[in-house]
This record gives sequence, structure tokens and C-alpha cells, in this order.
Amino acid sequence: MAPQSNSEIMQLSRKYLVNALIPREPIAVKRASGLLVEDYDGNVYTDLFAGISTNNFGHCHPEVVEAVIEQVRKFMHVSGFYYHMPEIELAKTILQHTPSNISKVFFCNSGSEAVDGSVKFAKKLALRENRTGSIVVALKGSFHGRLSLTLSLTGQRKYKNNLGNYANYPGIVHAPCPYYYRYGGGLSAREFGERCADEVADIIDHYTSGDVAGVVVEPILGEGGIIVPPDTYLPRLSKICADRAVPLIVDEVQTGFGRTGRLFACEHWGINPDIMAMAKALGAGLPLGAVAVSERVDNALEKGDHFTTFFANPVVCAASLAGLRVLMRDRLHENAAIQGEFMLKFMKELENHPKIGEVRGKGLMIGIEVVEDKESKKPSSETAEKIKLNMLKKGYLIGVGGVFKNVLRIQPPLTIDGETAVKAVHALSDSLKNL
Ligand SMILES: Cc1ncc(COP(=O)(O)O)c(C=O)c1O
Repeated sequence: MAPQSNSEIMQLSRKYLVNALIPREPIAVKRASGLLVEDYDGNVYTDLFAGISTNNFGHCHPEVVEAVIEQVRKFMHVSGFYYHMPEIELAKTILQHTPSNISKVFFCNSGSEAVDGSVKFAKKLALRENRTGSIVVALKGSFHGRLSLTLSLTGQRKYKNNLGNYANYPGIVHAPCPYYYRYGGGLSAREFGERCADEVADIIDHYTSGDVAGVVVEPILGEGGIIVPPDTYLPRLSKICADRAVPLIVDEVQTGFGRTGRLFACEHWGINPDIMAMAKALGAGLPLGAVAVSERVDNALEKGDHFTTFFANPVVCAASLAGLRVLMRDRLHENAAIQGEFMLKFMKELENHPKIGEVRGKGLMIGIEVVEDKESKKPSSETAEKIKLNMLKKGYLIGVGGVFKNVLRIQPPLTIDGETAVKAVHALSDSLKNL
């Protein structure tokens, strides 16, 4: 007989799935729609985490579902040896909205693949320009994926423990994290942002061979703890890269497609990268990634440089196109800006609580840093977990992340309405009182 409860499914999971999986919430999902997720025990949750900041258009958006069914009836997989329109239409749509530098796209299956492909293309560019591109600069506190190269770029030990060389791809150098709350050290935010960017210049000019294939950054560090850099950081970093003809690789896997109140987070700071990695929301609930590049990069690539069996899968491209149509038509990025500003304003009041160090974010990418006390700023992952559990009991799904596992993550679908946002803020406030 088919399993009937959360616990039965959890037991089956323990029996058949590898140990490497992260501990899950005690929820076995039966169905999900819009902002709601229902489990096998009949509980219904309001999703404030959106499948790790992924279901930007809500769960199972009817137009996405229809597009998938329509495409499945035509053809599902033909491989990259043949042309098909969903891939081309999707590329055209994305390029209408990317920064002006970007002119071509390659589709893959995940964020890790998108970042891996971004670095591969940057290295190829270096070689075609008679450099070796042996160095890649990434940030401390960053997250770029769990495959060998992307795990090596990732600047957090917790993902690399006991993985040896697998997490140590040669030539990767980590620059300071623009994490003002923890490392501001008495500087103004403006100065701190400039200082962090200048450290990258020093790495390129003085502390390495200088033969840098690219500098990889998340515009807002997501898994690192929703770290919004000071406004001076990205424009200065972009100039440092441009002055040295070093490609700036922007990882918009988590920040893209309206999450931060703009279609891409780069827009907040007017930066124009050479390479962009995208994924998560791009697939509208299905696995899809993309590497978007400038003409300079595209010109360096040669036929056959890159390929995977399932790249630009037609069904996933059709889902993505439908999702992007909804995003643009319903101006979901603008809703993210409005609801995000509202939620952030009220959540900022939580900073009065002795265990809340900082509330920060942009659009619907909000992080709440939980500490032992405000003076020491000692991270409290235990309290963060308790708050997450309190929220679960109240019927809300939220995330916990950050380098120190102490940042509550509020990243709901961009379709969230004002009433749900108000209730969510109250629930969070109550969850703190119940500690
Ligand atoms: C900024 C960023 N880059 C890359 C990745 C890796 O994406 P995926 O899990 O789809 O491989 C993530 C995933 O959380 C991410 O947040």
C-alpha cells in the first residue's frame, strides 16, 4: 500500500537514500500550489522559503504547468545535436533583460553547472588572449555549488569537510567577504565596501601571479547569510576588474529573476558583468541553469567546447518561458520590491530583541542574524533552529543558513500578497517571544 504519513515516508527515505543528504524537515510533501505546501499528515504550510529561493512564481503556477504539458506532448528530449525553438525563444527572452554587455546564452541543468561553465568559459578566454588564467578569485563566505570546482570556489568550510582535494581545485584565491555586520571593524559602510574591493585589486596586482581568469561574486551572498554588500563594493570591484581586463563573473543563481526587487541584482549597482551564472527560479520549478556571456567571451569559444546530454531540455525551457512571461506580465519583481520593503521595515523592529543582531536584505531576500547577545555577536545557530521550529509549528516554512548557520532566511515566492506578508511578520515576532 502507498505510504500514508510523513513518518512512513521518512522511514523509507532512511532505508533507500544515501547518508550524504542534509537533515530534512519532518515534512513529506504531498502537493504544493502558489504559496502553500501540504504534507501527508494534512498540515498546510505557507512557504516563506520557496524551495530554497527558487519558486519565484509560486508552486505549480498554472501557466507553467500548461506549458510543460503542451511541450511534453510534442517532444521531451532530442539532445543538443538538434535545434529547437524553446531553447532559442528562451535565450532571446533572457537577453532582452540582461545587462547590456551580455549577448549570448548557454543552458545547463543547475546552478553548480552554470558557475562551473562560467569559469570554464573565462579560462578559455584567458587562453585565447594568451594568458593562462590559472587564478580565479572568489569570496570568503560565498556559495557556488557542491561540484569539485564550484565547491572549491565556495568560501565556507562547512561544505568542504573531509573532502580533501575534491574541494581544492588549484588556483582559487579567496578575497574578503563584504560582511559589514561582522567585519566592518569601526569603518563606515562606504569605506568598508571600498576596502573589500581594494583587497581584490591587491590580490590581482601583488599577491598572485596576476594571471586571473575571473573574479566570481554573488551580488548578495545567499547561503553565506543574505549578506548585502555596502553600496560602494560592487561598482568599485567592477571598475577594478575592468581596469585590468579581468572578467567579472556574477553569480545570479539565487538573486536573479526578481528575487531582490529587480530582474537581476546587478541592476541595483549598475554593474555590467562579462559572465552571468543563473539557475534556481529560471526553471520555474524544474532544473535549469544558464551561463550568459559577453561578445568578448563568446568570441573566445570554439565549436564543441561545451555540451551536456540534457542541456537546454525543451520541457524545462518551455516551463521557464512560461514562468518568465508571468514574471514580466505580473511585474513580480516590482511586487518583490514592495512586499520586501514592507517586510524588511517591520522585521527591522525585531532588532530590539536581545537575540537578533541584524535584519538585512533586498526585495524578498531577507536575512535575520541570530546571536547569543548583541555585544559579543556570537552566532547562535541553536536559537535560529528554535525559531525555525516555532515557525513550522505556526504553519510557516523558513530557512536557516549563513556561514555560522545562524541566519533565518525569508525568501518567499514573489507572488506573496500584503495580507500574507503581514501575517508572516506577526508569526515571526511571536516565534521570538516563545523562545
Ligand atoms: C549563489 C549560488 N550559486 C550556485 C548555487 C548552486 O546551485 P545548484 O544547487 O542548483 O547547483 C547556489 C545554490 O544554492 C547558489 O545559491
